[in-house]
Amino acid sequence: MLSKFLSYFFPINVVKKNSSISKTLEVTWNNGELVLDSKNTNYSYGSLQRILRKGLKYIGFERINKFNSVLILGVAGGSVIKTLVDEIKFKGKITGVEIDPEVISIANRYFKLNEIKNLELIVDDAFEYVLKTKMKYDLIIIDIFQDTTMPNFLFEDFFINRINFLLNTNGFILFNTMVINEKDRIRNIDYKKKFDGNFSLRMYPKVEEHNELFTIKKLN
Ligand SMILES: C[S@@+](CC[C@H](N)C(=O)[O-])C[C@H]1O[C@@H](n2cnc3c(N)ncnc32)[C@H](O)[C@@H]1O
Repeated sequence: MLSKFLSYFFPINVVKKNSSISKTLEVTWNNGELVLDSKNTNYSYGSLQRILRKGLKYIGFERINKFNSVLILGVAGGSVIKTLVDEIKFKGKITGVEIDPEVISIANRYFKLNEIKNLELIVDDAFEYVLKTKMKYDLIIIDIFQDTTMPNFLFEDFFINRINFLLNTNGFILFNTMVINEKDRIRNIDYKKKFDGNFSLRMYPKVEEHNELFTIKKLN
């Protein structure tokens, strides 16, 4: 395809939409790859996909392959879903929760998420969803950004306790955070302190410039 080829020389915009949550949503051919960006950051594919793929590698592709259920909070274009399905060959149930209906229509139209059989997409606020769900999960991926901002609830006890409750024993949380200033760095150190001996937490700083990842295993 011509756009794909030309995008090795310069980015080619496919569609641009306004969004109340992400300011703008843009689908662009970039270096031969179709990516989704918000106003100021990459949402899906590109660097974001590399970051979450590294997180999944730290947990272990083979281990994840044997899991039964994965919850993804923050779907965007669904690049982590593609990694799970295409690279890890994950066959269990995937539930994706995304607050922005415009994002879901872009994900289906340009990234074909609606063709993935073992995926259920839910348009809801992740905070509301985790309160309501009756399911338990082996892997919970938290990747919630409103453009470059991370909502505060992600770091508060109420949400953390609820996520821990929804996680099966021997299951993992993969949490993607952005660290731009000293305040963010301290926020992440405080977050780490919230997990006691029932969890094994690892922090991976500077996964890609501003991103810090957490993997958290529930021991019992
Ligand atoms: C970085 S993108 C997610 C990328 C995705 N995990 C992937 O693998 O391609 C962040 C997403 O979080 C969504 N989001 C922001 N606040 C949310 C909330 N409260 N509940 C659910 N999704 C939210 C945004 O609309 C955006 O699509």
